[in-house]
Amino acid sequence: MEQLNKSEVLILAIETSCDETAASVVKNGREVLSNVIYTQIALHTRFGGVVPEIASRKHIEKINQVIEQALEDAKVTLRDISAIAVTYGPGLVGALLVGVAEAKAISFATGIPLVGVHHISGHISANYIEHKELEPPFVCLVASGGHSHLVVVKDYGQYEIIGRTRDDAAGEAFDKVARAIGLGYPGGPKIDSLSKEGNPDAIPFPRAKVAENEYDFSFSGLKSAVLNYLNSCRMKGEEVIQADVAASFQKAVIDVLVEHSLHAVKAFGYDKFAIAGGVASNSSLRAAFEQECAKRGIAFFHPSPVFCTDNAAMIGVAGYYEYIKGVRHGYDLNAVPNLTLQ
Ligand code: KG4
Ligand code: ZN
Repeated sequence: MEQLNKSEVLILAIETSCDETAASVVKNGREVLSNVIYTQIALHTRFGGVVPEIASRKHIEKINQVIEQALEDAKVTLRDISAIAVTYGPGLVGALLVGVAEAKAISFATGIPLVGVHHISGHISANYIEHKELEPPFVCLVASGGHSHLVVVKDYGQYEIIGRTRDDAAGEAFDKVARAIGLGYPGGPKIDSLSKEGNPDAIPFPRAKVAENEYDFSFSGLKSAVLNYLNSCRMKGEEVIQADVAASFQKAVIDVLVEHSLHAVKAFGYDKFAIAGGVASNSSLRAAFEQECAKRGIAFFHPSPVFCTDNAAMIGVAGYYEYIKGVRHGYDLNAVPNLTLQ
């Protein structure tokens, strides 16, 4: 076993907010010693989306195995662990409860302190894993299946939301459009790869602006425009070129995300920008931000795809910064499905 220095902080992290059962061991907030993810995607695909009841049952079945694997991969035992970090919201209540109950049980049995972590704080903190030089303050776009937030990261674990979606999250729009063009679930990665064969300028889908807040997003109009386009093609008997629809839709989402985000970075006076969440693994989105940030002299950060989609390493990183601030939770910690970031 690796000799551990007593001043090292090792976090055992658990994430079960949606359809990934995940555990990780993170050293001193930035070094991932293990990252075990059991993805349930194949199980939910035939239903066209995540079925909450199935997700909870599978989490219960897998959680112990995933945690044991995370400890083994990290070559540590529970005796080496400084704190247990667990996602307690937002997410599916039955899914969250599995992780929270597990974390509380281990904490109760061993006396290891318990730290509850916000899922979105985890997504944002994923950026610290591979960018050791990245420190707050900076602006971060969080685009996942459930959230599209533009956030000022004031300090570790301290956030101000400056923009949010008024309706669908960006990932949700990817999933719904993918279903409409017959690509199946989850739609994001499928649209991402199909778009490479399509023309992003083929169909002029709308770029929505929200009058009251220039940093807010709205994707439901775009989703309806895609559905209307598909219907009108069918009615006119015209062929639908799936790749063109995918590429044009994706470009419309990316244009809005890039424009709003980078406008915010400049307006709020920052020079660092990061992306996070499942949609942040989109290859064209990353390329667009890369290019536009370079033009504007903004330093751009993004996690590797494995740290963009749900994982426990990001929870371990966020949990570390909470732990060193002195945050501890009691055994009354509960799952909070609609937990807010501020
Ligand atoms: O962060 P995440 O794993 O879970 C939530 O917290 O929601 O995000 C999942 C979302 C799904 O909507 C999925 O379609 C989308 O991220 N996604 C992508 C890509 N990979 C995952 N969207 C666009 N392009 C991708 N490559
Ligand atoms: Zn997530």
